[in-house]
Amino acid sequence: MCGIVAGAFQDNVIPFLLYGLKQEEYRGYDACGIGFLEKKEIQIVKKIGRINSLVEKVQNLKGNIGIAHTRWATHGKNTENNAHPHMSMHRIFALVHNGTIYNYKEIRTSLMQKGYVFYSQTDTECLANLLEYEYALSGNILEAMQQMQQRVKGTYALCILNKEEERIYFMKKSAPLIIGIGKQGISLSSDIRALEQQDFSVDLDEEEYGYITKENYFIYNQNQRVTKKEKPIQKNRFQKKEISMDCYMKKEIFEIPYILENILKKYENGFSAEIINLFSQASKIVFIASGTSYHAALIGSQYFSIPTEIYFSSEFITEERKIHSDVLYVFLSQSGETMDVLKALEFVLSHKGITLGIANVENSTLLRKTQYSLQMHAEAEVAVASTKAYCAEVLLLYLLAKYDKISFCKENILLIIREIKEHLKNVESIENIAEQLKEKEHAYFLAKGKDYFLIQEASLKIKEVTYLHSETLYAGELKHGPIALIDEGFPVFLLGNKENNEALLSAREEVEARGAVTYFMTYDAKQDLGFLPLMTDFFLLAFYLAQKKGCDVDKPRNLAKSVTVE
Ligand code: M6R
Repeated sequence: MCGIVAGAFQDNVIPFLLYGLKQEEYRGYDACGIGFLEKKEIQIVKKIGRINSLVEKVQNLKGNIGIAHTRWATHGKNTENNAHPHMSMHRIFALVHNGTIYNYKEIRTSLMQKGYVFYSQTDTECLANLLEYEYALSGNILEAMQQMQQRVKGTYALCILNKEEERIYFMKKSAPLIIGIGKQGISLSSDIRALEQQDFSVDLDEEEYGYITKENYFIYNQNQRVTKKEKPIQKNRFQKKEISMDCYMKKEIFEIPYILENILKKYENGFSAEIINLFSQASKIVFIASGTSYHAALIGSQYFSIPTEIYFSSEFITEERKIHSDVLYVFLSQSGETMDVLKALEFVLSHKGITLGIANVENSTLLRKTQYSLQMHAEAEVAVASTKAYCAEVLLLYLLAKYDKISFCKENILLIIREIKEHLKNVESIENIAEQLKEKEHAYFLAKGKDYFLIQEASLKIKEVTYLHSETLYAGELKHGPIALIDEGFPVFLLGNKENNEALLSAREEVEARGAVTYFMTYDAKQDLGFLPLMTDFFLLAFYLAQKKGCDVDKPRNLAKSVTVE
């Protein structure tokens, strides 16, 4: 989703901003823009579409103080006017924003009544004008920002240029923002990836605000200066180095066995006493997640011997929801920044629930906010379609469920990893299926019982990267309606156990009798985690089909790597 990078540098900051935007590209975006200071004027350049087109427009420009943004359209269409940075009406401020302003209409109306003119449909533009308005009243930017903080309802990470000063102001609430410190100067970003060229980072906490200069940074909370620990920035974490591949999705699928081996090594001697206590004392575990992480929770929760419930994070908060002190609330998220997950977490925390966060991204908001946390150790996942993180999540939940007998399970896990490696060596049949699906518009995925959780993930992956419309069905439900769509050449995937799959076989007969092309995929359900090699096949299928259809595999349309809006 939206990405922010900003810098106050001794030299030209524009190459750094462009590098940062490129690093944030994986998050998904529709437009991008840069704003910088030039002789006490703010210059802005915006482009719809890819960063490369912005590069062409700004590569010969120079400025030491600048802000930049990738916009994933929410409020208003994908137009240059709606792209960031947004300028205040009298061109005193320009700002970039991640998050959502809930009361923007009310602020906009009241500013319009004061004579302000708006040029975009965004919620963000009201912040630029509100700041200008408050600044006109107090004559002090930090004070104006505090006023703004009180007036605005919503979430934000903001970087602000003021035409008069060689500074970048910032504010943060429920959206990530990090300060970077390096020899070239001081920077800000919503994503640590953009700060890789810097040496140290400082995480900003809720409702903090302040400014950076070329030499220093100043953080405040409720008018008090705050000092924080600087952490060294790890370099080259996100390069396609381990396995050289043409795109991240493929690389990440091929990394699955190594990731699983790593996770096993990390946790083969068990979990900390603190984590074990959590699971051994809970009367029930409630899993909360979105998308692929939700699918991983559906399947991983099956291994626990105590009762479990699984919720979409976006559906968790209801008026009737009760939070219980003997229940463990487990939040599962690759990014640790999914807004729906964080909102559900806020809800549980506000009702004094016990929370455990499991995320892949170190230092993510989820891991910082839950009382207990575990890192997934799937290494950086860059492709929008989550593949290795799914496998990592499933394995981690399995290990947590078996925390007292991991040594007994180790052999089986290693066997599964070997099987995955074998599947990755034999991709030809998967490529052939992809070839057959190239011209298709729809597909069905059928399964029975718990295998339904697996086809949900397989179908999501196909949908996301290939845009093929796919639907999941319990095999027995087919004849109660959905079979009406089956005609000559309709692709139907059937997924099930190697044995006891009569119901699937008869579903196959029913659809084949009507001309469907069927793909019967089985796994050994007697082995714990025995479905993982098969899931790897589905990930590969999604990848090859996307590639054959000429889709942007790593950055599918309309999608974002971490969904940081509700
Ligand atoms: O970072 P998270 O695991 O919280 O993300 C949740 C979903 O947005 C994510 O899994 C999404 O469904 C992926 N694009 C799936 O490939």
